[in-house]
Amino acid sequence: MHGILLAGGTGSRLFPITAGTNKHLLPVYNKPMIYYSLSTLMLAGIRDIVLITSPGDVDRFTALLGDGSHLGLRITYRTQTQARGIAEAFLIAEDIIQGYPVALALGDNLLYGSGFTGLLQSAVLRLTLSGGAVIFGAKVENPRDYGVAEVDAQGTVIGLEEKPREPRSPWAVPGLYFYDARVTEFARALAPSARGELEITDLNRVYQQSGGLHLVRFPRGMTWLDTGSPDNLADAGDFVRTIEKRQGIMIGCVEEIAWRQHFISDKELLAVAERWKATPYGQYLAALPADAAH
Ligand code: G1P
Repeated sequence: MHGILLAGGTGSRLFPITAGTNKHLLPVYNKPMIYYSLSTLMLAGIRDIVLITSPGDVDRFTALLGDGSHLGLRITYRTQTQARGIAEAFLIAEDIIQGYPVALALGDNLLYGSGFTGLLQSAVLRLTLSGGAVIFGAKVENPRDYGVAEVDAQGTVIGLEEKPREPRSPWAVPGLYFYDARVTEFARALAPSARGELEITDLNRVYQQSGGLHLVRFPRGMTWLDTGSPDNLADAGDFVRTIEKRQGIMIGCVEEIAWRQHFISDKELLAVAERWKATPYGQYLAALPADAAH
């Protein structure tokens, strides 16, 4: 399975913070925002990743993540020149993902919770065995700001709407989607919405209408945050800081995940740790192999 990380856009809801930089490189407490969504793909076991960003920002992401080999990944870069919608990602990355199932993660979403890795593995398994699409549902107070799924008593999706004025349910759809290999064909057939974009919600509706859409509702222990406004960004940083300080673990630490997933060896982990040994982040990485031995 391939993964797509979407990290483009102007970040206009964060101006002036994003007037001179890409939103997905902003800090969420102690690491760049993109680490959290990259973590999600890695926890799903995905190692082939296409990162899509604006043409002017490719160099910055390359400086941060390179070709991904230090994380045991293969990262390829593609560009989105205009805001033509989230679903355009599948057309931009088509030459790489063609013929494979694919997971798409929006670079400004943060997902964390006990059992999350299990949910991801189930999604990958379902896609491998039966195809179709897997999306998630997260109960929120402000569904109006998101794609919203209406589900019946059996948990079947009976309706999907993008930013509805009057949401029919509190179940928002987070920015993490799994699709079978038909996704490029379905994305190509989409018509732009009223705002001129290929909407991810319209793509999900195509899967729903073909009977292949499966929605997994997050249990209470799952947290979904998005980081697209100043308040959300500050809240996400506070959330990560609180948990990390209290428990002495890191959230969204891609080097640790690469090591725990056996994408990289102890030696490779320690080589990265050495580069950042002046910071608590580097010191945390350096201590991992010895900690795990106890
Ligand atoms: C996008 C999607 C929306 C989804 C949200 C998750 O909205 O269009 O369906 O719920 O991401 O973050 P955006 O935040 O880009 O407006």
